[in-house]
Amino acid sequence: MPSAEHSRAYRAAILYFVGDPLQLGEQAWHFHEDGILWVEQGLVKAVGAAADMLERLPRRISLECFPHHLITPGFIDCHVHYPQTEMIAAYGERLLSWLNTYTFPTELKFQDRAYAAQVSEFFLDELLRNGTTTALVFGTVYPESVDALFQAAQQRNLRMITGKVMMDRHAPQELCDTAQQSYQDSKMLIERWHGVDRLQYAVSPRFAPCSSQEQLNKAGQLLREHPGVYLHTHLSENQEEVAWVKALFPQSRHYLDVYEQAGLLTRRSVFAHGIHLCDDECQRLAATGGAIAHCPTSNLFLGSGLFPLDKLQQWGVHIGLGTDVGGGTSFSLLRTLDEAYKVQQLQGASLDPFQALYLATLGGARALDLEHTIGSLQPGYEADFCILDLHATPLLAFRMQHCHTPRDILFALNTLGDDRAVARTYSLGRCVHQAESKPHARDK
Ligand code: GUN
Ligand code: ZN
Repeated sequence: MPSAEHSRAYRAAILYFVGDPLQLGEQAWHFHEDGILWVEQGLVKAVGAAADMLERLPRRISLECFPHHLITPGFIDCHVHYPQTEMIAAYGERLLSWLNTYTFPTELKFQDRAYAAQVSEFFLDELLRNGTTTALVFGTVYPESVDALFQAAQQRNLRMITGKVMMDRHAPQELCDTAQQSYQDSKMLIERWHGVDRLQYAVSPRFAPCSSQEQLNKAGQLLREHPGVYLHTHLSENQEEVAWVKALFPQSRHYLDVYEQAGLLTRRSVFAHGIHLCDDECQRLAATGGAIAHCPTSNLFLGSGLFPLDKLQQWGVHIGLGTDVGGGTSFSLLRTLDEAYKVQQLQGASLDPFQALYLATLGGARALDLEHTIGSLQPGYEADFCILDLHATPLLAFRMQHCHTPRDILFALNTLGDDRAVARTYSLGRCVHQAESKPHARDK
């Protein structure tokens, strides 16, 4: 019998998904206006309406109550760069000049292991403050920088995926490796970290323009030699970039084909952006189960374009959400949902708030091939969740008084919410972030 220490329950409104609302409609989610989540030994033990759960809970279990709060699964950030934390919000450039002006000089600093360790801690704090419990993270070309992030995540027992950037051309000399060196360094990191605790490795060529054909082939070799590791890269973000790839790889049918020919298109491949894809690229993604990380704050900030969500959904492509910090302008998946909605508005489409929260949770888990482990609150799932304060700001509290349906509530939360709405974040049943307590707007 597990001790009471390992068994806790939380009472609030609860929302989680069991499938994609596009396929299952209202069957895709479970919403309890007054619910209880019961966590035992780091996993979800049971969840349901408070009236039913109160009868099932063991006596003397710790039960914490959160009026006007919503419990959701922890958010999943399918694309973010930890070394770019310090250069978020850098003015005035588009992708390729932004990389040269801001990104490369910043990433040079991560040769210094101590510096990388310090930024890793800040980065993880920031994820958790924003309710993000799992992220697929770009490191830098320096293996020490990836080692530092893995170590920091391991100490907190977080579920994280990261990898060393592979980049052997079109970048400053000190930031370039070689095909062989990148293979050896990546292999060493895979052997050290992949599958250790909750950590997994992503083979991470930066993007096709920064890798020779030989290096892309080496990345493919790593995937073949280590089944289960991820492929993480960028794809079709910006028109200038797409034209450059066409010129660099004239023998390829299109941008995605460059990766596919090198053996980089698998069920565990995650491509950031995918804004300017042709039908054949969509078809190949759908057929292989490769995923796109949609990064709306970045796409707007860098002027990259408007993501055609409907088109990719119609093709059946797996889609998750990414903040893409530092091209993206916020660590918050709620801010990301706000911008995702506007990106669809500009194309005459609409992003339903349930679909949006699905993308930020179970949809992200599916993009990462982890949909049976995280992203939901069904019994047996890892207890990664957040408790969101629906009255976190005076405006949210006031707006909520005028919301009459769960859909209204969620949409207001997605549109107005940010890190201030994250009262607590839990990872494997352990509280890993708790906002400073403050008087509630309502209680003033
Ligand atoms: N393409 C290649 N590298 C990067 C990067 O660091 N950020 C973004 N947004 N796109 C890229
Ligand atoms: Zn990126």
